[in-house]
Amino acid sequence: MQKEDLDFFRKWFFEYVNRFFSPDPLIKENIELKIEHTGRVCENILLLAKSEKISEKECMLAETIALFHDLGRFEQFTKYKTFRDSESENHALMGIRILNEERILSRLSKEEENIILKAVEYHNLMEIPQYIKTFSKLYFYSKLIRDADKIDILRLASEEYMEEGKHRNPALELYLPDALGYSEPIVSEILGNRMAKIGDMKNRNDVKLLRLSWIFDINFPATFSLLKEYGYLEVIMSCLPETKDTGVLKWHFESYLNSIESGARESGSKH
Ligand SMILES: [Fe+2]
Repeated sequence: MQKEDLDFFRKWFFEYVNRFFSPDPLIKENIELKIEHTGRVCENILLLAKSEKISEKECMLAETIALFHDLGRFEQFTKYKTFRDSESENHALMGIRILNEERILSRLSKEEENIILKAVEYHNLMEIPQYIKTFSKLYFYSKLIRDADKIDILRLASEEYMEEGKHRNPALELYLPDALGYSEPIVSEILGNRMAKIGDMKNRNDVKLLRLSWIFDINFPATFSLLKEYGYLEVIMSCLPETKDTGVLKWHFESYLNSIESGARESGSKH
């Protein structure tokens, strides 16, 4: 992959998203949101890639994955007015279909094309499929995009919660109601250090918890450092309702983050 390829992809991406310009304010807001999200995920993936000290060529491949990871979102929102895959289509697979139809990746080697398509496909799965671990390159890029994506979704969520009351974008809350408390399955997944499941979300508090539960699926130490630096997790935690459950959950999240931090410090001091 060459610099010209990345330039071509960037140019094509902006031409592609321009097709979705709409006078409808809801569509306009959400298309712009995904353009901005894509840009931030590109920045995040480069920060993570550099912390892993990979080559310039590999950084360009990582950036291409970030550029295309949510390509399906534009058609999805325009067609279905939702980002909920279960009520529309799997946006990762939509993105792959578009890349294939438009023959965008044919200028790359088969190996690079395959890594991009598969990393896009795996970016929104609950887990990366086990068998991928034997394909070390693909596994690495799949982990990279998942972390880079999560960092920005947490930014978006924390900004949204800080503005709560002023302006609310219902598409981001997946159209769930405001209700008291949390759904039990979400709480129990978190206490078991597992990511909560989208299907278990019943209200807006559950969405906040689900996003916080992503800390159990983070792959790189640099991701934790960035999250700490940006303070997104603290903001989301501070926006949870004041209940007994919240106290327990916050304590659980904080001890998990502390254990990761001290683990990283120890392994750092060994080098
Ligand atoms: Fe996505």
